[in-house]
Order: sequence, then C-alpha cells, then structure tokens
Amino acid sequence: MEFTVAIDGPAAAGKGTIARALAQRFGFAYLDTGLLYRAVAAKGGDPVQAALGLTAEDLARDDLRSLAAGQAASRVAALAGVRSALTDFQRRFARTAGGAILDGRDIGTVICPMAEVKLYVTSSAEVRAVRRAREVGGDLAQVLAQLRERDARDMGRADAPLRPAQDALLIDTTDLTIEQAVALASAAVLARFPERTNP
Ligand code: C5P
Repeated sequence: MEFTVAIDGPAAAGKGTIARALAQRFGFAYLDTGLLYRAVAAKGGDPVQAALGLTAEDLARDDLRSLAAGQAASRVAALAGVRSALTDFQRRFARTAGGAILDGRDIGTVICPMAEVKLYVTSSAEVRAVRRAREVGGDLAQVLAQLRERDARDMGRADAPLRPAQDALLIDTTDLTIEQAVALASAAVLARFPERTNP
C-alpha cells in the first residue's frame, strides 16, 4: 500500500514532532528532508556534486542539527541543481510500501503534489525561537533573528519556495500542546484512511 503524508512549514514549527508521532502511530516510514540539505551543506565542496553523491554516512554526522548547519542548508537549498539532485530519492521514499511521511518545505507543492495528506505546520516566529533555543541553546534574540532570516530565504527563493499547498490543512501550533497538534494531524490521516491502524 502506498500512502504519503507531506508536511511543510517553517523551521521549528513542530513538523518533526508531528511527523514522528504520526510515523509511530500509523507505522509509516519517516524522512526528515531538511537533513538532506543540511548534509549537503556540511559536506562542503561543490553543492550539486555533494547532493548527487550523498551517502548514509553523510546523513549520520552529528553536527547537522546546529543553528549554523540550518543556515548553511538554506543557502544550498536555494540552488536548483541541488534540489533536482535530491528529488528522485525523496519521491522514491514517498512511495515506500506501507506508507511514508516526509517533512520539509516543498513536499506538498513540488516533491509529492499527489500526497494523500498534506499539512502545513506553522507557528509564530517568537514561539519557534523559544523552542529552537531550548533545543540547541543560544541567545534567544539571535535565534529569532536567524529564524527570520532563514524563513525569508526559504519563502523568497525562486525554486520551490516555502508556501502551503493549495489543499494543505493548516495547523498553527502557536497555542497548541504537542498532543493537540498531533491529534489534528492524526484526524487528517484517518479522514483519508479510516481503517489505518499501526500494523
Ligand atoms: O527542516 P530543516 O530546518 O532541517 O531544514 C534546513 C533547511 O533546508 C531549510 O531552512 C530549507 O532551506 C532547506 N529545506 C528545503 N526543502 C526541504 C527541506 C529543507 O529547502 N524539503
């Protein structure tokens, strides 16, 4: 059975938390696509070559989660050659037997426009900065400034800019608990696939 859940939204809005919860509840394979762009930037050298030659080890580096790695990722992510080098892998993953969930910036709009479920998860920049500062440390004002800069770059680029797919369900997590956000996302999956239970 093929069933794709596409989750897009800005950094630290709660995409990963929701994606992991859905993956566990429904037994879907999960791909954090931001990690691909982070790994490309961390690899150095020519970014398109780095994207074409990305390996499992590149994705297992322990320095990919930092604020600096996120900023560097958003720079290489603006390159059309990098994006196209990563497209096939993501599309194949989306068709994993048993269902797949991918989170990123262009999953519902470009990578999987036919996804059965599309979510756009967002939240105020201030709340996102507090969450990210708690996760990775750093000065709150600086984290907020970096998130805003990254949002602007991701939303303003010519190729695959961050925006909600027309048919995406919007989940604003600013005033939601994790449980409430996951419940909304689960309901969206169940609406498309009521008989789904975790095998
Ligand atoms: O989600 P994460 O913060 O790890 O993503 C890092 C960067 O990778 C984003 O700011 C964005 O520029 C880029 N990205 C993207 N498309 C995706 C996932 C991430 O352009 N599908």
